[in-house]
Amino acid sequence: MADHKKLFIPGPTEVAPEVLAELSRPMIGHRFPECSALIGSIIPLVQEMLYTKNMIFLSTSSGTGLMEAAVRNCVRKSCVSFINGAFSKRFCQIAGANGKQAVAVDIPWGNGFSAEIVDEALAANKDVDAITMVHNETSTAAMSDLSGICEMMREQYPDVSILVDSVSGMAGVKIEVDKLGVDVILASGQKALALPPGFGVAAISERALEKARTIENRGFYFDFLAVEKTYAKNQTHITPSIPHLYAMKKQMELIIEEGLENRWNRHKQMAGRVRAWAEQNYKIFTQEGYRSETLTCIENTRGTDISALNKELAKREMVISNGYGDLKDKTFRIAHMGQLTMADIDQVLGAIDEILGF
Ligand SMILES: Cc1ncc(COP(=O)(O)O)c(C=O)c1O
Repeated sequence: MADHKKLFIPGPTEVAPEVLAELSRPMIGHRFPECSALIGSIIPLVQEMLYTKNMIFLSTSSGTGLMEAAVRNCVRKSCVSFINGAFSKRFCQIAGANGKQAVAVDIPWGNGFSAEIVDEALAANKDVDAITMVHNETSTAAMSDLSGICEMMREQYPDVSILVDSVSGMAGVKIEVDKLGVDVILASGQKALALPPGFGVAAISERALEKARTIENRGFYFDFLAVEKTYAKNQTHITPSIPHLYAMKKQMELIIEEGLENRWNRHKQMAGRVRAWAEQNYKIFTQEGYRSETLTCIENTRGTDISALNKELAKREMVISNGYGDLKDKTFRIAHMGQLTMADIDQVLGAIDEILGF
């Protein structure tokens, strides 16, 4: 494709040509039986990918919309928000912006966290009715211990809702939603799901819906109960992005065709390769034991000019990502998610080696 740089950034990511082709289909009415059939064919595939029977919300919004939805529908009064990077900070801000009391628990950026930190925070904040957290903090490439956290929560704090942003984790790592007992887990399409941006997916538990029934001011666009009403008919309560639905159907078919375990393994292998390269040439920024399987955040120990590196990579039709926000130039990130393969990873690392003379 002319002028296309292969994306090794943590979103948007590469989209398969056959998925892109789906975007240019002629339109159908969103109340037509064809659209219900389309939605009805996507839902079971998403449920299969997430090992769940929960309601699947296909949202014509990016992931941030779904973060707002989670807070509006499932935080009654107050939540504890665990902050270990820019996006978990955003989750906390969204709670505040929607009139909820958000107790921020700050964790050093670059670290992940496990059940102990969550337990400690909840023991000290007995009135909260939800937690917000980011499973895979894209700004620092820290992947927290979702299984351990959920297990502890279900045992010790069964009435506290678990609201999880897995924007850059979902579809790249195994997330067994029903086993975890997570109330809301959400993602953007343009990350490991490898769809064009502008679309989001969330799995919403029965418990979350029960709670939403008791919460006022859920808003309109993201009201889970409005979603639930039309979900029963494989419809949406607003006009959805029909091109995204076509693209998603194709992409979900490709994901299932690849095989879920194969997909999780491919991501693990790519992560292993990038980490080994990073250890050899730089240092990994993220705390050991919490390193993401969908992207790696590398401490820029050589003071490499990342913009200049990207200029050279662009000549080879590739691009990587600088650090996020304050971490710009102190770190850089290489994404290994979605459509990318080991061959792509070898290609980008080989090119960097050549450019920087490693
Ligand atoms: C972990 C995380 N949460 C939330 C977002 C925001 O998602 P969106 O830009 O799709 O609204 C991002 C985007 O990069 C992210 O990485």
